Amino acid sequence: MVHVHGRQFHLTNGLVSYIFEANEYGKLLNLYFGAGVPDREDFDYLVEYQHRPMSSCPQEGNLLYSLEHLRQEFPEYGASDYRRPAISVRQPNGSAITNLEYTGFRIIEGKPGLSGLPALYVDSTDDAKTLEVVLLDKLAGLRVRLWYSVIADLPIIARSARVENIGAEALEIERLVSFNLDLPDADYEMTELTGAWARERNVERHRLHSGTQTVESLRASSGHFFNPVSALARPGTNEHSGQVVAAAFIYSGSYEISAQVDTYGVTRLQVGFDDFDFHWHLGAGETFQTPEALMSFTVEGYNGMSQTFHDVVRKHLVRGPWRDKERPILINNWEATYFDFDEDKLVSIARKAHDAGVELFVLDDGWFGDRQDDTSGLGDWYPNPRRLPHGLKSLVQRINDLGMLFGLWFEPEMISKKSKLYEAHPDWVIRTPGRAMSHGRNEYVLNFADDKVVDGIYEQMKALLSSADISYIKWDMNRNISEGYDATRGFERQGELFHRYVLGVYKLHELLLQAFPNLLIEGCSSGGGRFDLGMLYYTPQIWASDNTDAVARMKIQYGTSMFYPLGSMGSHVSIVPNHQSGRVTPLCTRASVAMFGTFGYELDLARLSTRDYEEVKAQIAFFKRFREVIHAGVFYRLVSPFEGQRDAAAWMAVSEDRRTAIVGDYHMLAVPNSAFKRLYLEGLDAKMHYKVHCTGVSSIEGLIFTGSELMKVGMVSSDASSGESGGVNPLGETEDFASRLFVLSAQD
Ligand code: DGJ
Repeated sequence: MVHVHGRQFHLTNGLVSYIFEANEYGKLLNLYFGAGVPDREDFDYLVEYQHRPMSSCPQEGNLLYSLEHLRQEFPEYGASDYRRPAISVRQPNGSAITNLEYTGFRIIEGKPGLSGLPALYVDSTDDAKTLEVVLLDKLAGLRVRLWYSVIADLPIIARSARVENIGAEALEIERLVSFNLDLPDADYEMTELTGAWARERNVERHRLHSGTQTVESLRASSGHFFNPVSALARPGTNEHSGQVVAAAFIYSGSYEISAQVDTYGVTRLQVGFDDFDFHWHLGAGETFQTPEALMSFTVEGYNGMSQTFHDVVRKHLVRGPWRDKERPILINNWEATYFDFDEDKLVSIARKAHDAGVELFVLDDGWFGDRQDDTSGLGDWYPNPRRLPHGLKSLVQRINDLGMLFGLWFEPEMISKKSKLYEAHPDWVIRTPGRAMSHGRNEYVLNFADDKVVDGIYEQMKALLSSADISYIKWDMNRNISEGYDATRGFERQGELFHRYVLGVYKLHELLLQAFPNLLIEGCSSGGGRFDLGMLYYTPQIWASDNTDAVARMKIQYGTSMFYPLGSMGSHVSIVPNHQSGRVTPLCTRASVAMFGTFGYELDLARLSTRDYEEVKAQIAFFKRFREVIHAGVFYRLVSPFEGQRDAAAWMAVSEDRRTAIVGDYHMLAVPNSAFKRLYLEGLDAKMHYKVHCTGVSSIEGLIFTGSELMKVGMVSSDASSGESGGVNPLGETEDFASRLFVLSAQD
């Protein structure tokens, strides 16, 4: 997997190849990243020297050699390259010019973890190989170790960098990325997942242009606005074919992903900290480790890219027993009650849900401290005596007695001014001395950069989680840091606050998981405000959005699926009119969208009509039957809700053995007398015969087709809107936001 020819390195698993070299001056040059290629003795022909006027040339007498015109591996600024550097370190004399030179390498079997940080892992050392390349700048007292891990069965490479101060005086890290990738041209479209609260991870694409285009967050959280991922695809790429280079950050704080296109058409793709609010004081002898970033390559379009990320998350990122266990169908009381509940009301919601087949009851916000509304109680993680006068144990026991698991909401990073914790520790809050403190939703942010704060919250949570049989927690986070300042550290360490805060968040997750290894944590941040690969290392599922409207969810889940697997996407059926959009959608559509996620309900099932309640029972039975296909199968997006031609969406999941597939087919507004429709399916076995079953009315119900027909001829999926409704149409009635679930079962 790692071929070394002198100073050339070829990392490959047959699926991808990554080739770079250390040149005679000790500089690392990138030679190739793309589909796997056979090895050869010498790839030096890929280095293109040019004489270009106005270049700075670091080697006296050599006019052909300028770093500005070479594709580099870990570039530095100002010694003949003027593009964005991978690293910038200020030294005691005030200079930030460095000259890192290659000094050696080693190969590590398997893939080591990164202390305190989320990272890919492998079960056996045969499943990965890691190359460490060492760079040194003696004058600066700076050593850098670059890590590259090739995962055996996936077209993906994990990268990170470790910086060591081997000098006698402190260094200041002013910029540091986890990876730099100089691509030979700029003929790409960049995909971003962008949005805001209640419309997270919408897909946006634009052609790369000269200059720098970035996605970023400056919030100490990955945020709702841009997800820490990016895909560069050749023009014409679609869901099913086309070259895509993708990058993703395994990190949950401020970040920047940039694509800088220089005037010679080279694209410099970087993933790392944003340097606006990152600055690290590296004392003599100290080491700094970057988070890990991933890069992948496929020729199989966006679906190919997504399938790689789904696999890597499911097999090499999500840990513990919940990696392989089925995720429970849950009922959450938030939209059913908000803050208006007591023990009996909760039990009645749970009972009705249990009778319908729901497996886990989740008690959301409001159960703790003196929390009456969102102005008080955060930080006091003991049962609210007014709402739960018999304590938590009694409630949990009643839920467990029904035969359900019990889950509980927390917002560990936050504090209310009206709380016992604030009375005892007003100094635990992040604030800038002498300045006003902004609030968000009446709450303030605890300084998780301070170990004693993290430990204090941990002790409270541990006591509570030990007090009753709690299987799940929902970890919420409803605001970002403002007036950032770390009162526990001095002037030179203020630029470290945001990263140290994120490390504190990771630390608390890790402490909880060590103490309660069977705990299932669902991440959440005002919906999907911290949906990233970093969190998925600790929280196998994340609430995708506070928007539970089925139509909005088609977009949110479609976009989320670009990088994240269905089993990671928290998704619930809620009541209509929807609380976020006011829209009324059919119950079957709400469920058939939510089923392409973790699946659950967020309503009081007792308030449904008998007919709807029976439908819910059938939905749950259906999901239980096909949960494995949906969560462990291969996912294909078929019709995009972002591309207007059809005003529709469709996707499907195919079981690993390709014997079963579930297709979700969704409409927006009904268009009377609309066009006939076919869905071109994907991922089936061309020769296998599949029987089609549809939960709605369909002209193809019960018919048998080969996989080849379903993929090439297409599956007829016209609905009643393509004819006259009112009884004469063989396809029955239609309505706005109609949907269908097709089940395809292989026939022997
Ligand atoms: C925001 C979350 O996204 C919601 O699901 C809910 O838990 C509320 N917070 C509770 O305050």
